[in-house]
Amino acid sequence: MTQPDYRDGILCLEDLPLTAIAESYGTPVYVYSRHAIEQQWQAFDRAFGKHPHLVCYAVKANSNLAILNLLARLGSGFDIVSVGELERVLRAGGEPGKVVFSGVGKRRDEIERALECGIRCFNVESIAELERINDIANATGVKAPVSLRVNPDVDAGTHPYIATGLKENKFGIDFSDALATYLEAARMPGIELAGIDCHIGSQITELAPFRDALQRLLGLLAQLEEHAVHIRHIDIGGGLGIPYEAQETVPDPADYAAMIIATLGERKLEIIMEPGRAIVGNAGLLLTRVEYLKHNQAHHFAIVDAAMNDLLRPSLYDAWHGILPVREQGDGREESYDIVGPVCETGDFLGKGRRLRLQPGSLLAVCSAGAYAYSMSSNYNSRPRVSEVLIDGAAHHLIRRQESLEDLFSHEQTLP
Ligand code: LLP
Repeated sequence: MTQPDYRDGILCLEDLPLTAIAESYGTPVYVYSRHAIEQQWQAFDRAFGKHPHLVCYAVKANSNLAILNLLARLGSGFDIVSVGELERVLRAGGEPGKVVFSGVGKRRDEIERALECGIRCFNVESIAELERINDIANATGVKAPVSLRVNPDVDAGTHPYIATGLKENKFGIDFSDALATYLEAARMPGIELAGIDCHIGSQITELAPFRDALQRLLGLLAQLEEHAVHIRHIDIGGGLGIPYEAQETVPDPADYAAMIIATLGERKLEIIMEPGRAIVGNAGLLLTRVEYLKHNQAHHFAIVDAAMNDLLRPSLYDAWHGILPVREQGDGREESYDIVGPVCETGDFLGKGRRLRLQPGSLLAVCSAGAYAYSMSSNYNSRPRVSEVLIDGAAHHLIRRQESLEDLFSHEQTLP
């Protein structure tokens, strides 16, 4: 199984009981399924079939080198947003020619390095960025491949912090300015117009917003053709959601691809996509142990050893993650628990009102923690970042060791 499931009353990921992982590595620990990651990437790749396409995994979702390397071995491209992500991709064996570079604030040094590596494309978000890339390309004597990220002004129907395709958001070039910006770009000697791009948000659970955005882009494309601006690819961004709750239904990569191919019709453009969460989100979990139970007049609290610094999504977006007992029967008396961490913030919780049988020492799995979980973790409260382990059948591999206390202050120094 690539989703956690119970065998003989113990929660397992692939063929390994999570009790064994906790014994080997301690807790908290992030645990991922190799099979689940590969299966999801292949689902995207397969869904687009013979239509020319490139799946560019969004590195920010989970940037561990081992995971990037597994995807590179499958032939994946990568969507990056910083030079740090670029160096990770290269270190993991990714091909620079399959890298697209997104983000509103690319620095000069980042653009220079990306040009030097020969990335596939810059997804440009403003006229000022376009001018900067043109300058750098001219100075280096190369042409920079560029796609303009257009803001299609569609409502993705997702959490406001992760909606990016509305005209009030900081992302992309205003739809009404897009044609003029293309014509301007076409006159710049350092720019080679390669594509058109949009990304409307994340954790989108319906196809309609994607279709609306694509249709707007196709309208713009027709105008470009009239002005003799020809491009080779259309990048539809990332954003396909995942089910966080068992009863949630979300379009799968096959539904998504069928809609996109149908909307494109006869157009022979290459399709680039940038899925992050849909590839790794449900391939990982955070394993944590109950330290204390605490009861007051209003609540039952299970204080666990993981906290908001390890998994920020519940605190930041009020996101809901499934929390499963590793021992199916649980231990102790059943109560409705708030699962909270040791960090000194009331907002430090992983889940609220969960009916569980717990006692100190019980192990819990916080599910759907493969995306935007480890990658958003921090050292807040001087808590070392935890280990990451990849399960492959019955084998397990440490893919990032836990930080030591020494690591915590190794970059700091006191005054002379
Ligand atoms: N492409 C661009 C330009 C993006 O900004 C993003 C995500 C993606 C692709 C990948 O989107 P995905 O397929 O993973 O939805 N921290 C938030 C999510 C932030 C997403 C940021 N951009 C969360 O935990 O929900």
